[in-house]
Amino acid sequence: MTEIFLDTANTDEIRAVLPWGIASGVTTNQKIFFTSCKGVNFKQRVKEILSLVDGPLSVELTTSSGSDEDLINEAKEYASWGNNIVVKVPMWADGRGLRIINQLQRLGIKTNATCLMTVNQVLLASKAGATYVSIFFNRVKDSGADPVQVIKESRQIIDISGLKSKIIVGSIRKPEDLSQAAVAGAHILTIPHKILMQMPYHAKTEETIKEFDEAWAEFQKSQGCSD
Ligand code: E4P
Repeated sequence: MTEIFLDTANTDEIRAVLPWGIASGVTTNQKIFFTSCKGVNFKQRVKEILSLVDGPLSVELTTSSGSDEDLINEAKEYASWGNNIVVKVPMWADGRGLRIINQLQRLGIKTNATCLMTVNQVLLASKAGATYVSIFFNRVKDSGADPVQVIKESRQIIDISGLKSKIIVGSIRKPEDLSQAAVAGAHILTIPHKILMQMPYHAKTEETIKEFDEAWAEFQKSQGCSD
């Protein structure tokens, strides 16, 4: 079953969509906080999201220039905020992210290997023990590669190798990206609110509903006539 996560830290957006019953988790990153939640208290906001959503909440490490110890301490701090916290660990080029993922797995802290663009990165993160591996659909495309192929091959390798990581596909910029990612093998689609709000709409659906409403109005008038 393909799961849907909300790619946002905005609690109004989360509150608006939760009653739809479609979302089972939330993902965030530093840019999401900066663009949609300027001025909020980070810890308070994370705790607020945890209180709203009964599912995993990904929060990204920010001490990129820190030591392994700094990063592990940051991860431990986030993990102490709630059982559903998942720590997002970037795929740094020097392999530090893999080291951190592996150590966090040993500590029983769930991780989401993030900013992944290639099948090799997915394979490494998954082998290191990442709970989730995040492939960035449109950023893969921006780099000139085919995100559908990256997702498809990643899923095949995970399944063939008996690896446990779930593939999250993010960087969704239009509704059509979603079906491509899902069919290619994403376990989870993380969707920005703006894209979600476009998904129930289709011009023909609107036209059909209007046609049925008009027919019902005419039918009601006709009932009065035949009695
Ligand atoms: C990661 O989870 C996100 O999807 C991230 O914000 C990337 O999205 P963008 O490529 O549209 O910025």
